[in-house]
Amino acid sequence: MPHTKKITVTLETLVSLAKRRGFVFQASEIYGGLAGFWDYGPYGVELVNNIKQLWWRAMVYEQPEIYGLDSAIVQNPKLWKASGHIDSFTDPLVDCKSCGARHRADHLAGLDTSDLKELALLLKDKPCPKCGKKTLTEPRFYNMMMKTWVGPVEDESSVAYLRPETAGSIFTNYDNVRETTRSKIPFGIAQIGKAFRNEISPRDFIFRVRELEQMEMQYFISPDMQKQQYERWREFCWDFLTERVGLAKDNLKWHEHGPDERAHYAAAAHDVYFNFPQGFKELWGTHNRTDFDLKNHIRESGKDLSYFDEATKERYVPNIIESSVGVGRMMMAVLTDAYNEEEVNGETRVVLKIDVKLAPVKVAILPLSKKPELSKLSREVYTKLVQSTNYNIEYDETQSIGKRYRRQDEIGTPYCVTIDFESLEDNAVTVRERDSMKQQRVKIDKLAEYIKI
Ligand code: GAP
Repeated sequence: MPHTKKITVTLETLVSLAKRRGFVFQASEIYGGLAGFWDYGPYGVELVNNIKQLWWRAMVYEQPEIYGLDSAIVQNPKLWKASGHIDSFTDPLVDCKSCGARHRADHLAGLDTSDLKELALLLKDKPCPKCGKKTLTEPRFYNMMMKTWVGPVEDESSVAYLRPETAGSIFTNYDNVRETTRSKIPFGIAQIGKAFRNEISPRDFIFRVRELEQMEMQYFISPDMQKQQYERWREFCWDFLTERVGLAKDNLKWHEHGPDERAHYAAAAHDVYFNFPQGFKELWGTHNRTDFDLKNHIRESGKDLSYFDEATKERYVPNIIESSVGVGRMMMAVLTDAYNEEEVNGETRVVLKIDVKLAPVKVAILPLSKKPELSKLSREVYTKLVQSTNYNIEYDETQSIGKRYRRQDEIGTPYCVTIDFESLEDNAVTVRERDSMKQQRVKIDKLAEYIKI
């Protein structure tokens, strides 16, 4: 058995592995990149798709009263006026008068608050982290909405915004979904999609980015259900992370937002923090948004979005419990949690022990030689497996078998199948299991059954 070293992966190691093995590349890398934007490579896109599928299955397919939605990224700007984002989606910012660098004031102060007076006090005499001079401005608010123009004329009347969260268009579709699905309260709407935030200081790899993807669910309830449903969705989040994604409980903890920390729409908020390489940080938020959203949309749109409860004969504006997590952050948590270094015969083996459901490649077919007769059989095994499963399977016949195993371990492939000259005689292959490295001879016609995931 390999000896596993308990290590916490550093950010540099994670970034380097993600690039070397084709998970994440810097966007526009050949032009020097663009801060806060990243591209997912061949294994990154598989991991991300598997994460999204796992969440969609648990959230939509397994909850009969939750329905999916895929709305436009650009909406009528009145939506963001009503939601409070145009006025309040802000972070505190300080500029350095000497070098021009901009910093998040709360990050610099080391305190989760948006109270400008408190921040000004804490930052008094603080040097700029970039140039070291004590020339920071007073903190001020900065709006994070990304602007664009719709149509040929670029003026105030054509300004629109890239959505800062996927939730906004769930609220505006509340009545459409309720009516078309003939739902009664409580019910939910889930959406996975891109969102954009002009973050002051994007950082920590894919942790804080400007183009992100969110998995969000809004659960519409009567006012008296707030406490119970808030607890239910907190529990869902914890169970999903520990049981479905398989993250170690030691790497997770709860964080309750204080009054200064909560978003402008939330009456209560609990985050699950994950132990990222840079420390425990927010991964997934559960928020009690009360009737804030629908009340604002009723006021701004003039549409009646209230709900009449046939059973109690009461009319009310639905309250909302929100469950919201970033796909990229989840991917970073999965990679951090799965990263292992092991001593094997005096050498270090890097292995990603990703849950098999999430693994980007499920099986690698590795012929021991490029000789035509072996390639032919190996191609047949590959095709047969592709046709009889829905797994992403890789075929690789370049380099030594040791190097190919190493590569698959670093990608997190649970099964490597080697095909040797004996396979031509006995119609069997060797299956190597990623975590135990145990090898087992398996008949080709029993292979799909043996590696059932
Ligand atoms: N609709 C509620 C909402 O958007 P949020 O706490 O601002 O709440 C929810 O974001 C989740 O989206 C976070 O817990 C995080 O996982 C992810 N997220 C937010 N901002 C992000 C950013 N700049 N980069 C990467 N992920 C981000």
